Amino acid sequence: MDQTLIKDFKKNTKAQVRGWVYNLRSSGSIMFLQIRDGSGFVQAVVSKDEVDSKNWKEAQKITIESSVELSGKVTEHPKQKGVFELQVSDVNIVQVADEYPIGKKDHGPDFLLDHRHLWLRTPKQWAIQKIRNTIINATYEYLNKEGFIKIDSPILTPVSCEDTTTLFETEYFDLGKAYLSQSGQLYLEAAIYSVGRCFDFGPTFRAEKSKTRRHLTEFWMMDAEAAFVEHEENMKIQEELITYIVQKVLKENIAELELLERDIKPLKRIKPPFGRMTHAEAVKKLQKLGSDIKDGEDLGGDDETLLTKDSDVPIFIDRWPKEIKAFYMKLDPDNSDLVLGSDLIATEGAGEIIGGAQREDDHDLLLQRMKECKMPVKDFQWYLDLRKYGSVPHSGFGYGLERIVKWITGVPHVREVIPFPRMINRLTP
Ligand code: 4AD
Ligand code: MG
Repeated sequence: MDQTLIKDFKKNTKAQVRGWVYNLRSSGSIMFLQIRDGSGFVQAVVSKDEVDSKNWKEAQKITIESSVELSGKVTEHPKQKGVFELQVSDVNIVQVADEYPIGKKDHGPDFLLDHRHLWLRTPKQWAIQKIRNTIINATYEYLNKEGFIKIDSPILTPVSCEDTTTLFETEYFDLGKAYLSQSGQLYLEAAIYSVGRCFDFGPTFRAEKSKTRRHLTEFWMMDAEAAFVEHEENMKIQEELITYIVQKVLKENIAELELLERDIKPLKRIKPPFGRMTHAEAVKKLQKLGSDIKDGEDLGGDDETLLTKDSDVPIFIDRWPKEIKAFYMKLDPDNSDLVLGSDLIATEGAGEIIGGAQREDDHDLLLQRMKECKMPVKDFQWYLDLRKYGSVPHSGFGYGLERIVKWITGVPHVREVIPFPRMINRLTP
């Protein structure tokens, strides 16, 4: 008999489910098996009166997390429409699981992270990965629709794209040091001269010393870059992308959000226009709200949380002091102490989800900025070249996938939204 996925169950049909028993209880002559098959969850009922003695004996061997093939008839719950059960007639055990370490009691985060290879199976973790998948697909859909094509940027790089203090380095044959990419941005800037609009999506690395709920040392970034797009339009693209993603999750993952006990009302309010504030305005507001941030300083995690406290929509913070932003950001034509960079701060205390900017497209100004930032100009010659051969105004941004998944799912820590988290104190499993 062919396998039927739980998500495709129809009442009064025959089905064979192949999956795992994530919970079970037995009351003498009847067993209730909670089955998971990757597509969904269902209760399977094995009744001593309904199966032959061979099948009943087999069922008694089932332990939590045993893998099984169960055949029977699909029935609908008498009171809950769309909730099905499997009335089992045939039991086939694929493997009887050893005593399962997770689930008997409340476990601390370290125990769960040590058992991440097993923890991933629990319904909440399943729901998080399903939503992550929707967010990835929605990103591709939106960007393709808007004319961005995927350009894969390298992971091994000869230079730093962001803060040099967070570089992972490795020996690279006779060529000296190589660094793991912090962002594919600089390479996408080269590619726009070929394809106009592009994006990459892949793992990026930062030797972050910070132990916060928002930082990983390996995380997935989507960088987008577009020719002839300036600062304002750059933010508009981000606003539309984020709205598209949230709408898509609300459409496709209601059951998963419910399983995660996520209040979806705040998500339903995410639509354009997003909030706007300059860095100077943000600092003023924060000082009023009691933050000890000083003029010209970068925002801390608590500041980000505070800023969107009363906002239904994410907020762009733009026009940052150039000293605290990257060398490639274009100077504000109205105030050359500032750059046309923006951070997008999400609602409900989620903090920064996107960093973006209009890029400096003038060769001499860029060179001057690089010298001010004491950068090894020779290593960036190829990047400077881009300003010599048909330079155009252009902008881009990069989102942190785990930050977005954390925000939308409402889970408290990024370590729970990536399948195998890497942090300063964790490399296994
Ligand atoms: O703001 P960042 O550093 O910007 C860049 O790297 C730009 N080159 C992107 C671009 O313009 N193409 O990083 C972008 C985003 C942040 O907004 C945040 O969401 C995420 O990446 N991020 C991290 N996520 C998890 N752990 C970390 N250690 C992160 N560092 C940044
Ligand atoms: Mg940033």
